[in-house]
Amino acid sequence: MPLVCVCSPKGGVGKTTLAANLAWGLARAGSKVLAIDFDVQNALRLHFGVPLSDGRGFVARSEEQADWSQSILTMGGNIFVLPYGDVTEDQRERFEDNLAKDPHFLRRGLDTVLNYPGLVIVADFPPGPGPALKAMHELADMHLVVMLADTASVSLLPQIENNRMTGKPLNNKSGHYFILNQSDNRRHISRDVTAFMQQRLGDNLLGVVQRDESVAEANASQQSIYDFSPASAAAFDIELIGKRVANILNIKVGNGEVQAAIRTYT
Ligand SMILES: Nc1ncnc2c1ncn2[C@@H]1O[C@H](COP(=O)(O)OP(=O)(O)OP(=O)(O)O)[C@@H](O)[C@H]1O
Ligand SMILES: [Mg+2]
Repeated sequence: MPLVCVCSPKGGVGKTTLAANLAWGLARAGSKVLAIDFDVQNALRLHFGVPLSDGRGFVARSEEQADWSQSILTMGGNIFVLPYGDVTEDQRERFEDNLAKDPHFLRRGLDTVLNYPGLVIVADFPPGPGPALKAMHELADMHLVVMLADTASVSLLPQIENNRMTGKPLNNKSGHYFILNQSDNRRHISRDVTAFMQQRLGDNLLGVVQRDESVAEANASQQSIYDFSPASAAAFDIELIGKRVANILNIKVGNGEVQAAIRTYT
């Protein structure tokens, strides 16, 4: 059950987009993947074709329904989604309270999926520190920190270095890695920040994703970047990041198409 947390000190940097496309990429490579949304914006599901009007999710009933896997939506193929769902303010507050006060709440809710053999879990978080990211700390195998190729992201690097996201170093299993998103070679500042981040983060920089309009267009059409624009620069960059994640976490990468064909003929 490799569990990857996608987070950032900064909002609007592409966490949800990258979490979704990473999940698609790992599923294409043959893994069963569960994408979990811990953000009240409830946007992750939209990347998997769940209609805007579909408010199902695990948070509203997270107290009564001890096993959150009952709220998983099957999207076809190897992809499963656990949406945050539509919640009242009171339900959100209670969920966050439980996460902060009951050390077993999260583990109990996710017990079934955590014990599902071979399942890869990709979890998306709201920006900054928060009770879900903190509660997930001991379960996570890897944290991916998404940053933009801009000066505001540079100024937020100390937040990670000074353990401001969870109060502890981000990951003591397979480690934490950075993804620099929306890098744009045509812009001076973006080139400079990308070079600076490469130097400062070294091997902890898992990948750089080009700013690419097809990413936003794929989002708008509720498709993965691989389906929408497989030859795009962003598809290439994100696929490479997926391979690096699989490599670090020892996720067996088969050939998804071959596996799908085998399933068809057996
Ligand atoms: N590489 C990219 N190139 C172009 N646009 C991108 C890229 N990555 C993300 N975007 C766009 O940036 C916007 C923000 O992305 P996203 O919602 O994934 O960010 P987020 O970090 O999850 O935001 P929030 O903090 O609100 O949860 C979206 O419109 C998305 O389409
Ligand atoms: Mg998001």
